Amino acid sequence: MSVDLPIGVFDSGLGGLTVVKELLDVLPNEDLIYFGDIARLPYGNKSSDTVRRFSVENTLFLTSKGVKLIIVACNTATSLALNYLESLFNIPFIGVIEPAIDMAVRERPKRIAVIGTEATIRSGIYPEKICRRSPDIKVKSVACPLFVPMIEAGITNGRLAAEIIREQLKGIIRFDPDVLLLGCTHYPIIERQIKRVLGRGVKVLSSSRAVALSAKAFLRDKGLSSTNKRKGRLRIYVSDVPYNFERLAGMFLGRPNIKVKKEDGYVLYQG
Ligand code: DGL
Repeated sequence: MSVDLPIGVFDSGLGGLTVVKELLDVLPNEDLIYFGDIARLPYGNKSSDTVRRFSVENTLFLTSKGVKLIIVACNTATSLALNYLESLFNIPFIGVIEPAIDMAVRERPKRIAVIGTEATIRSGIYPEKICRRSPDIKVKSVACPLFVPMIEAGITNGRLAAEIIREQLKGIIRFDPDVLLLGCTHYPIIERQIKRVLGRGVKVLSSSRAVALSAKAFLRDKGLSSTNKRKGRLRIYVSDVPYNFERLAGMFLGRPNIKVKKEDGYVLYQG
């Protein structure tokens, strides 16, 4: 496999761009191809069969472009489909859950809370994995089904967002955790607002940075790091274009002035 192939990344929508943002920082010379399945978002309220099928299709799309590693930048797809993808494809995958749990456990907390989509929380994967690592840690996981539609609609600030966040986090506030893990790649967008609701006593951790660092270590250990001296190229493909796509993509990537153009029926941003 050529070390200069791009890294493929997929998510149900634009949330996985929070992982891309960290990858751009941690692996600046790697080319990246992102696929956001906006047409079929959200994954978080779908059955595991459906999420698996969508994840296989997303993987086929990325492998058709030629990639050396696939990052499943979606907690829902990682919970329900990562093992299945690993059994089907002869390509390495990195999910978002293990790196996030490693990072949370390193904080030596007594109580960890996890928030995510219905499907991620129902899968029970976080409590199961945390308990296997550190049986003494108390874990509470809570689904926040309103966060993804709210964020994809661009409602991330102001009174309405604050009220929704407070309402969805009621169970977490009662649990009074030391650490809150953002178990959905959309949530870093509202991290500041979540922190405001929970107060200083709770350390809020997002998996995006942890995943980028784990991708870097993986490439180095396997001798797959790119030999590119130039800045890596980013291409973003999506299965549909919401009316506010450019603004949203810019918000997730932390870059204003995103421009899109059509290619093969997909929208492409090249930077
Ligand atoms: N960003 C995805 C995740 O991390 C979820 C969004 C969705 O429900 O599609 O779970």
